[in-house]
Amino acid sequence: MANPQARQSERKCTVRLAKATDIPQVIAIDTENTGLSKAEYWEDLLERYNSRSTDVDDDTQPKSVKRYRFFLVACDGEAVLGFIIGEVRAWEFGSPPCGWIFAIGVRNNTRQGGVGHVLLEALNDRFRKAGVSKVRTMLARDDTLIMSFFRSQGMMAGPFIQFEKDL
Ligand SMILES: CC(C)(COP(=O)(O)OP(=O)(O)OC[C@H]1O[C@@H](n2cnc3c(N)ncnc32)[C@H](O)[C@@H]1OP(=O)(O)O)[C@@H](O)C(=O)NCCC(=O)NCCS
Repeated sequence: MANPQARQSERKCTVRLAKATDIPQVIAIDTENTGLSKAEYWEDLLERYNSRSTDVDDDTQPKSVKRYRFFLVACDGEAVLGFIIGEVRAWEFGSPPCGWIFAIGVRNNTRQGGVGHVLLEALNDRFRKAGVSKVRTMLARDDTLIMSFFRSQGMMAGPFIQFEKDL
């Protein structure tokens, strides 16, 4: 399964908060993955998630400015290899505080090199530091790739089900 060429990127990549100059590359990865280019969406997300410049590890910040929203990128130098977005949410759907993963994407030619794993672990570390011990996500039933990925990371079906109807 593992792609030895891409594995080099796992060794080289670093994970940090996304910044404005990363957004064109994030858009390119997302467009490659989903077939839809949504520039405004990504710019808005950056503003909402990373407008504060400090990461969770910044001990110079008082506890009151603890970070709960994370828009992270995995980089090799200036090249963005992938991104992940997540947030700590409390009491919605009757759930005690937990981390939610809203999106993940890895550049096509870098996949199966451990970048997805590194991104997820970086987000989970930040969730732990924010004080939660559970992480959740939602995925399309027929998306076998993303399902295999999350299963491989130890995630499994949880106690909630999703309901919807056409309006
Ligand atoms: C899912 C995704 C994030 C995985 O990223 P990645 O960097 O390739 O993942 P990793 O290399 O860390 O793989 C970790 C594990 O996931 C599983 N996995 C990854 N790719 C897989 C594939 N193509 N088939 C089956 N399992 C796979 C494997 O168990 C793998 O472990 P292994 O390499 O030891 O076998 C990436 O494929 C992707 O971006 N897919 C598109 C996502 C998308 O469409 N997002 C939009 C909706 S949120």
